[in-house]
Formats: sequence, C-alpha cells, structure tokens
Amino acid sequence: MELAEWYSILLKTEFIFAAVTFVSLFFISAPYGRFGRKGWGMTLPAKYAWMIMEAPAMLLPLYFFFAFADQQDIVLIIFLVIWQFHYAHRTLIYPLQKSGGKRPFPLVLVLMAIVFNSMNGIIISYSILIKNTYTQDWLFQWPFMLGLLIFAMGYWINKQSDAILKHLRSSTETSYKIPYGGWFRWVSNPHYLGEIIEWCGWAILTWSVAGWAFVAYTFANLAPRAWAHHKWYKANFEDYPSDRKALIPFIW
Ligand SMILES: NC(=O)c1ccc[n+]([C@@H]2O[C@H](COP(=O)([O-])OP(=O)(O)OC[C@H]3O[C@@H](n4cnc5c(N)ncnc54)[C@H](OP(=O)(O)O)[C@@H]3O)[C@@H](O)[C@H]2O)c1
Repeated sequence: MELAEWYSILLKTEFIFAAVTFVSLFFISAPYGRFGRKGWGMTLPAKYAWMIMEAPAMLLPLYFFFAFADQQDIVLIIFLVIWQFHYAHRTLIYPLQKSGGKRPFPLVLVLMAIVFNSMNGIIISYSILIKNTYTQDWLFQWPFMLGLLIFAMGYWINKQSDAILKHLRSSTETSYKIPYGGWFRWVSNPHYLGEIIEWCGWAILTWSVAGWAFVAYTFANLAPRAWAHHKWYKANFEDYPSDRKALIPFIW
C-alpha cells in the first residue's frame, strides 16, 4: 500500500479514536495521578512513563525529516522547531520537573499513549514534512502568523499552569492543594486549556487536516478529564472557588 493510502486510513482512525476516547473518558477516568487506582496491572514510576510514552511524538518527526524531507526547506525547519519546542520539553524536561514523579503509572496507559503518539507522529510528519504543500512565502501569510500567535499563547498558558501545579508541593509532599494564580483564576485546568489552544494554533499555522485531527483527539482526551478534576476539587475542598469553571473561562 502507498504511503498516501496509509496516511488517509490513519487520519480517519485518529478522528474515530477521538470520538471513542471522548465518550469513554466520561465513564472511566484514566487511572493515573489523583485517579490512580489498583486493578490496572503493572506500573512504572510516572517520570519514566512520561518520557517513554511521549518519545514517539518527539522522535518520529525528526526521523521523517532527516530520512525523507527536504532538509534545506526553511518552512519545514521552522515547523519542526515549533513542534519540538513542545515535544522535546514534554519528553525530556517535564517528566523530570513534575511533582509526583515516583507515583505508579499503569503500563497499559503507557502502551496506549505510545500507539497514539506513533500514529499522530506519522500523520503529522507525512502531512506536513513529506507531502509539503507550502510555498517559501508561507511564513509571511496570515494563517502562519495568526497560528503562531495562538500556539505561543497556548504554550505560555500550559507552561505557566504546569509550573503553578509543580510549586504547590515540596519535594517530599504528595497531597493535593487548591491552585491559585495565572489562569487558575478562571478554570480548574488551565494546563489542559493551554494545551488545546496550542494545538489549535498548530492546526492554523500548518493549515492542515492532520493538525485538526490532533486538536480533536487532544480535546477528546482532556475535556472529560478536566470535568473529572473539577468535580473532584469541588468534592474535596469546601472552600473551592465557586466561580471557577472546568476548562473554558466563564462557560464550562
Ligand atoms: N495532548 C494530550 O492529549 C495530553 C494528554 C495528557 C496530558 N497532557 C499534558 O501533560 C501535562 C500533565 O497532564 P496531567 O494529566 O498529568 O495533569 P494533572 O493530572 O493535573 O497533573 C499534573 C501534575 O501536577 C500535580 N498536581 C495536579 N493537581 C495538583 C494539586 N491540586 N495539588 C498538587 N499537585 C497537583 C500532579 O501530581 P500527581 O501526579 O500526584 O497527581 C502532576 O505532577 C499537562 O500539561 C497536559 O496538558 C496532554
């Protein structure tokens, strides 16, 4: 089968995964972090789990770029740098910085994330680096500039919120506290909001269906968890700010 046919099948599969994930996660919370529980088989320390499961998203675009793409193409180089800005950090830095790095993380979730990140890594690499429909002036056109702005805003919200969560605990603490500051003023899960905004920016700056497939999956994965976190905060903290929403400021 041609690479283009594989791409088309994987792209449809990603949208189907998104729909299935969205519905399932409203009934079963992914069993890690505060929803970690027994009965999900073997586990790994969370920091190694994060490094292993995010690695395909970092490595596959690098492989496709060096094996198949035009390495002199400045537009492709910039796309790759933007992607790695997120994924090199998520794979190599975030797991070492996050609190709760020794908490058990189910191996089955690591395997599921490897499957998703490999599929998405191939889809993004093929659509953007190999198909490469971009002219050299793409970097000066409005979708790229607007998308980059949105990506940068999402990145900032995501990183700021992850940092606020990290600083809630000392290195020996494992308890949960109410986060304050930054976008926590408006929502319980600004790190998820930032992540979704980031990938909307990516979809716009690459003007690609592959980018929107990734947005669909990210939303499907994070919105139900944002709702579960929000309910958990309200059930566990009597003084939880009542005007805070789950994911979308002032709305939901
Ligand atoms: N693209 C995607 O589909 C996708 C999927 C998942 C995650 N992500 C991204 O990965 C990052 C982490 O996500 P996550 O699901 O692990 O987030 P999370 O469950 O909110 O946990 C993030 C970190 O903060 C700690 N933490 C959370 N709430 C806390 C509180 N109230 N008090 C003290 N510590 C608290 C957690 O500790 P514990 O581990 O002890 O709970 C963990 O170390 C986020 O930036 C997210 O956007 C992306």
